[in-house]
Amino acid sequence: MAESSHGPASFFTQANALLRKNITFQKRNIRSNAVLVAFPLFLCLLLVLIQGIVNSELNKPENRCGCACVDTNGDGECVTVCGVQYSTMDQVGTCPIPSPPKWPALLQVPRPENRAVRTDFTPFSDLPAESCRSTGSCPATVLVTGHNRSLGESLAENLFASSSLTLNSSDMLNALANLILGSDTPSGSTNFIEPAFVSDRDLYIIQQKCPPNSSFSVPIQLDSFTVQQGVRCTEGLHIWRSSSSMINDELFKGFRQGNSERKVNEIVGAYDFLNTNENNFNVSIWYNSTYQNATGGNPSALVRVPRTINMVTNAYLKLLRGAAVKITLDFVKEMPKPETKLRLDFSSLLGGLFFTWVVVQLFPVILSSLVYEKQRNLRIMMKMHGLGDGPYWMISYAYFLFISSAYMICFVVFGSVIGLKFFRLNDYSIQFVFYFIYINLQIAISFLVAIFFSNVKTASVIGHICVFGSGLLGGYLFQPFVDDASFPRGWIFVMEMFPGFSLYRGLYEFSQYAFTGNLVGTDGMRWKDLSDRANGMKEVLIIMSIEWLIVLPVAYYVDQVMSLGSGVRKRPLFFLQNFKQRRLPFFQRKSLRRRVSKVFVQMEKLDVSQEREKVEQLMLEPDPSHGIVCDNLKKVYPGKDGTPEKFAVRGLSLAVPRGECFGMLGPNGAGKTSFISMMIGLTSPTSGTGYVQGLDIRTDMDRIYTSMGVCPQHDLLWDSLSGREHLLFYGRLKNLKGAALTQAVEDSLKSVNLFHGGVGDKHAGKYSGGMKRRLSVAISLIGDPKVVYMDEPSTGLDPASRNNLWNVVKRAKQDRAIILTTHSMEEAEVLCDRLGIFVDGSLQCIGNPKELKARYGGTYVFTMTTSSSQEEEVENMVRKLSPAANKIYHISGTQKFELPKQEVRIADVFRAVEQAKSKFPIQAWGLADTTLEDVFIKVARDAYALNTLS
Ligand SMILES: *[C@@H]1O[C@H](CO)[C@@H](O)[C@H](O)[C@H]1NC(C)=O
Ligand SMILES: *[C@@H]1O[C@H](CO)[C@@H](O)[C@H](O)[C@H]1NC(C)=O
Ligand SMILES: *[C@@H]1O[C@H](CO)[C@@H](O)[C@H](O)[C@H]1NC(C)=O
Ligand SMILES: *[C@@H]1O[C@H](CO)[C@@H](O)[C@H](O)[C@H]1NC(C)=O
Ligand SMILES: *[C@@H]1O[C@H](CO)[C@@H](O)[C@H](O)[C@H]1NC(C)=O
Repeated sequence: MAESSHGPASFFTQANALLRKNITFQKRNIRSNAVLVAFPLFLCLLLVLIQGIVNSELNKPENRCGCACVDTNGDGECVTVCGVQYSTMDQVGTCPIPSPPKWPALLQVPRPENRAVRTDFTPFSDLPAESCRSTGSCPATVLVTGHNRSLGESLAENLFASSSLTLNSSDMLNALANLILGSDTPSGSTNFIEPAFVSDRDLYIIQQKCPPNSSFSVPIQLDSFTVQQGVRCTEGLHIWRSSSSMINDELFKGFRQGNSERKVNEIVGAYDFLNTNENNFNVSIWYNSTYQNATGGNPSALVRVPRTINMVTNAYLKLLRGAAVKITLDFVKEMPKPETKLRLDFSSLLGGLFFTWVVVQLFPVILSSLVYEKQRNLRIMMKMHGLGDGPYWMISYAYFLFISSAYMICFVVFGSVIGLKFFRLNDYSIQFVFYFIYINLQIAISFLVAIFFSNVKTASVIGHICVFGSGLLGGYLFQPFVDDASFPRGWIFVMEMFPGFSLYRGLYEFSQYAFTGNLVGTDGMRWKDLSDRANGMKEVLIIMSIEWLIVLPVAYYVDQVMSLGSGVRKRPLFFLQNFKQRRLPFFQRKSLRRRVSKVFVQMEKLDVSQEREKVEQLMLEPDPSHGIVCDNLKKVYPGKDGTPEKFAVRGLSLAVPRGECFGMLGPNGAGKTSFISMMIGLTSPTSGTGYVQGLDIRTDMDRIYTSMGVCPQHDLLWDSLSGREHLLFYGRLKNLKGAALTQAVEDSLKSVNLFHGGVGDKHAGKYSGGMKRRLSVAISLIGDPKVVYMDEPSTGLDPASRNNLWNVVKRAKQDRAIILTTHSMEEAEVLCDRLGIFVDGSLQCIGNPKELKARYGGTYVFTMTTSSSQEEEVENMVRKLSPAANKIYHISGTQKFELPKQEVRIADVFRAVEQAKSKFPIQAWGLADTTLEDVFIKVARDAYALNTLS
């Protein structure tokens, strides 16, 4: 056997053991791991495919700058020429425009039917009456204010020309430049051409008074083409308001939907002359920036602002210098631009939703892996063999971090290699920091969530719901809030506390930066962009880091306190334990209890009460030679839904010295398993306690585990690890190293008959039931534990392996205390030095097998089979042998009697049978000593009889 000089394994030995086991385990799972890592590749390829389709769609001729076949030199052969002139309005966006057309600067004017009138909302008497709307003669209204009213009003007079129409010139553009020309067409999203000139709506000439029927058509030359443009005269109206806040109020109301379905009023613009005087020109201007064909955030309404400035400048000049001096605003035009391609980075557009799915995909994987060990009780099994929580957490965490990092690196590398702008344009160091923080948070959350699951399937389903849920909620609930600038940022911040949303926000920011970067041809996100207030990345990083720092300790704490499936729960304040006052010493507590237990003793059998006395003695004078001492251990399961409380163990006192194998017999449901569960730390006792090697099972379970071995009733094994790997792992946990470890594993495999034919190197999942059983026994014995619990170790074994196993146990019990439960009387007789029969939660008797047989047997069993007519004679014969004989069984000629040993001599029985043979035919007969089985049945029956009486 392995030498016993080694102490409990250190933190790093345990961590090392777990690490090696996990690596082996993962090597076996290489295929599913490869699939996992390839998942991002698959998604990225899918994106590239979709991107390709989108690109080919965008590059179709109808989306590109228009071309035509033109006969340029008149020789009858045409050449393909492309350009704006051959394009439709949809196509001009991509055309080269070397010299953009000029057009007269326009003023934004509301449509006649929308112009400001007197209403309930704006009850100003100087506004025109509502009737003008029906005739279309409403004036274009401008509001004016300033510090000096007389000055302000005379400036406003000059805003609109009073002169009559003079549109008679060969240079039409120049002529138009001297007029105030307005349009009510919404401005477009490109500045290539002013939409007013291609729409069928008239332009307005705004002046103080209009002659009747002043509407006509003029040709306007715009570079290469000429448009015939309808022009109409409109009156300009200026109204004085006493303060800028009044103007504000009026404009604000104009924006609102009134009682009717229409906008209440619309105003061309407003001027505040502030402190303007002859020496100082100071003015602020209101204009309507939302007046555009709403497709994007491109503020092309700005192109109609220059005219408002020109108007007021000329008004001021006219006041100072008279009508002769003016500044002409000749035209406006766009910057020249080269041909552009329509670019739409699909990966960035879908980025938030798609990549959230990819990243969160790891969550169910980690969760199921954690729950798997819990569901299969492997975590408890490891814990019972000395694996501390610290190493377990550290190694599991490191392992998941490794997997997650590999996954994310593959994701980013694949994405970059196949050219997704999402990855290429954003700074890699920001991406690294973001993903790194997120995967840490995700692992911590998985640990926390795993505590509440005990079934892999449930965990995995819930995990996947989280994956799709956070993507979809992020895309359709959260993102609209982010986009809506008026939504309070505080609430966004609160929503980002949900990790799915913070992930979504981060990815969304990446995709926004990549998308605009790609469209405009600049970089994506850089570190300096983090200071941008609209960029949510900084807050997301902070939220996630803080959450990680909080969730991880909380998960550890909850795991210790709830301990669902990982052993004894600790008290909520377990970490304060060391600071508390030590409990009372043994003897002080003892004196309190003694009186109570005396009364109890009266009702117990002598042997059981002797054991109790012995335990009490041991409590007063602890004796290190006793491996296991149970002191009045009780377990009561509380009643549920009206059922009464269940007493599983009612005050068990037991002392098992080292070198002894104590056998526990008992019918099913007698409480044996409850007892073992308490001793191995799966449940905590209701009252009383147990000491293993002098350590209390209520408080020192963690230390007890290092010197304990357990062979549970159901084999707790990893299907994909071999027997040898199991033993190596548990051997390392028990601090075996190097040659000693190899040797111990070899010996152990040999001893349980798993060595030959390479059985030890096959996966445990392929073992038969018996082989698993033997492996479990070998595990419980490896590393020389001082105390071993075996729960029905030989069930399902063939006789040869069973004998083999018995030899192993016999050898093993030399210097350790073993508690073994079994249903096989044979096993109990072979292995156990002492037996206890456990019925209905308490021990009925204790003793070695011989004593028990003597005590409870004391009879021979005599069986005789004759024809049924001779039954009476047989009974008479037996009565003659022993008057106290007791018939225990009778069926058609076969009878069984119990003969008290002190009344009968075996020789007499033989003689009587010989005599009987001569009188009547005897088919069969037999005489047997009591077996342990008889004892067991008798004890159990008596105990039940007593219980039903009481
Ligand atoms: C207002 O402006 C007029 C004309 O420019 C000037 O005569 C007058 O003194 C100004 N009033 C004040 C209070 O400055
Ligand atoms: C331009 O002036 C000429 C003569 O001066 C006149 O006949 C013509 O009708 C005018 N055109 C317009 C559009 O006013
Ligand atoms: C500004 O333009 C929008 C869009 O055309 C319009 O709904 C709104 O009433 C205008 N506001 C004012 C004050 O004219
Ligand atoms: C223009 O008006 C603003 C607002 O009243 C004022 O703060 C500023 O000093 C003025 N500028 C000049 C040059 O008077
Ligand atoms: C906006 O532009 C589209 C085409 O670019 C046009 O069909 C639509 O009528 C415009 N909307 C308005 C309100 O002018």
